[in-house]
Amino acid sequence: MEKIVAANLKMNFTYDEVKEYVEKLDGSKNFIVCPPNIYLHMFVNKNYSCGSQDAYYEDKGAFTGEVSSLQLKSLGVNYTILGHSERRQLFGDTNCTVNKKVISALKNNLNVILCIGETKEERDNNETKDVLKEQIENCLKNVSNVEKIIIAYEPIWSIGTGVIPTNDEIKETIDYIKDIFNSLYNNHDVKVLYGGSVNEKNIDSINSIENVSGVLVGGASLDIDKINKIKGVVLK
Ligand code: PGA
Repeated sequence: MEKIVAANLKMNFTYDEVKEYVEKLDGSKNFIVCPPNIYLHMFVNKNYSCGSQDAYYEDKGAFTGEVSSLQLKSLGVNYTILGHSERRQLFGDTNCTVNKKVISALKNNLNVILCIGETKEERDNNETKDVLKEQIENCLKNVSNVEKIIIAYEPIWSIGTGVIPTNDEIKETIDYIKDIFNSLYNNHDVKVLYGGSVNEKNIDSINSIENVSGVLVGGASLDIDKINKIKGVVLK
């Protein structure tokens, strides 16, 4: 299985900072960089892939502030993150809007990194599996071709906190996600990334979990040395 490292730069870097970052960034296959939309053009057509952090579901029109999958594709972007917990918690994305975005992204031939994950409260109430199943079923409603879908399992309580599940917990949850895909999509073996406080120190351990297909990295991806170390471990 070819593993993946995706870097979610979130809303970071000024123009001067991002220019320096691009210059220092080493390319490699199966490395996906997801910068803020205004910098996307600096990351396309390189020896790594470029993704957006979101993509609106209409192709064009009076949708002030939004950027569509059609527009992203026309720039040379080939991935988009959808359903990130920050979009869900801060900007009102629901499973229903994420579903529309997934359908539009696939129609426009983008690969989708679909983020799913439970809150701390849901975890404490033993609702993790129900939440993940609901997210998968509803975000992928009426989607029949899942070849271009990668799942990023990101427990929300782990994002940016430095707290991560045990390896056994990650393995069990990813097995569960894969089981859902197997039953919904005729034994399709979906790639599942782990995301949440991945860094250069814990990457060896996370990468050793047998069913992890790679990682989605936030904070640590802003530091060239750290993301290079992570890539070195996962993409070797
Ligand atoms: P983090 O973010 O690595 O900073 O926890 C991960 C993410 O939000 O994708």
